[in-house]
Amino acid sequence: TPRVFSGIQPTNHLQLGNYLGAVKRFVEMQNSGIETIYCIVDLHAITVWQDPVDLQNATRELAASYIASGLDPKRSILFNQSQVPGHAELGWIFNCVARMGWMNRMTQWKDKAGKDAEKASLGLFAYPSLMAADILLYHATHVPVGEDQKQHVELTRDIAIKFNHDFKVDFFPVTQPVIEGAATRVMSLRDGSKKMSKSDPSDASRINLTDDADTVAQKFRKARTDSEPLPETLEGLKDRPEARNLVNIYAALAEMTPEAVVAEYAGQGFGTFKPALADLAVSKLSPIADEMKRLMADPAEIDRILGDGAARANAIAEPILAQTYDIVGLIRSR
Ligand code: TYM
Repeated sequence: TPRVFSGIQPTNHLQLGNYLGAVKRFVEMQNSGIETIYCIVDLHAITVWQDPVDLQNATRELAASYIASGLDPKRSILFNQSQVPGHAELGWIFNCVARMGWMNRMTQWKDKAGKDAEKASLGLFAYPSLMAADILLYHATHVPVGEDQKQHVELTRDIAIKFNHDFKVDFFPVTQPVIEGAATRVMSLRDGSKKMSKSDPSDASRINLTDDADTVAQKFRKARTDSEPLPETLEGLKDRPEARNLVNIYAALAEMTPEAVVAEYAGQGFGTFKPALADLAVSKLSPIADEMKRLMADPAEIDRILGDGAARANAIAEPILAQTYDIVGLIRSR
């Protein structure tokens, strides 16, 4: 039976790429009736320095973003990773299955560690192994993510295959990344060759879920583009990454195909398209921002929801972890 798992790091505010590439897809999968488990990966967040108070706030804010976007804590399991000890425990076992060479090839490691890998935390290096544990602790079959996480999900498959092979079992499933829709890689509004990111030093490069209507409109107005009108077909956007990005964002927000968006705006300039995009974005995002504010006013209720989700997650994880310990030969006499 299919089971969906995905996670997001509680660092900074969610940006439009996280929303369109991940959260909106999470909601669609929940609403399609599949079993869905969505995590706030606080243990991943601390692979780089996090101020403890900021981490708590970001964790609650991400929970509020999930719920305000349409995740229903009754229909989906919603929790923060550190409350289910199995993630760290299975992560350790996978540290012993995965190879240093595999980790060394991860592009996110290379980007994040930068030139001075000697100074990166050991946790940052092992990050993909913990991510494999997140997914496989629930025997999840489908993992909705943006394009940038594809390599990590593929590594998860390699870890599952090696574990099954080493211990001569057919225990961990081979997981499918689900990377679909118009917004699997939303780009920076300032530079069409860089992805939109929570950690970009330029706030103008992204739309935050917490931005007010004026800020959203202004950021789209100032978004970098060329000065050509929109073409008749997508072909005409081939060498125009900034324009293509805005069309993709429009398509994902409006739940249209990019083809249909260019057909609608063919021949129109950005003087028309950008305000239309800004209006569309505000109409979709401002109800989420309002609901987030309402939820954030009651942090105790958020903590209660996360605790309830963690208990339900743990009930699935515990037997899988116990079986894993048996397979590996680790005695559990309780
Ligand atoms: P994170 O927190 O960086 O991002 C969360 C999700 O948002 C997607 N995303 C984007 N999608 C489209 N365009 C963008 N510009 C963009 N930026 C981010 C990411 O692909 C991701 O789906 N390693 C993960 C968290 C994680 C996880 C997991 C995911 C930990 N364990 C298990 C799935 C399953 C991460 O850092 O995502």
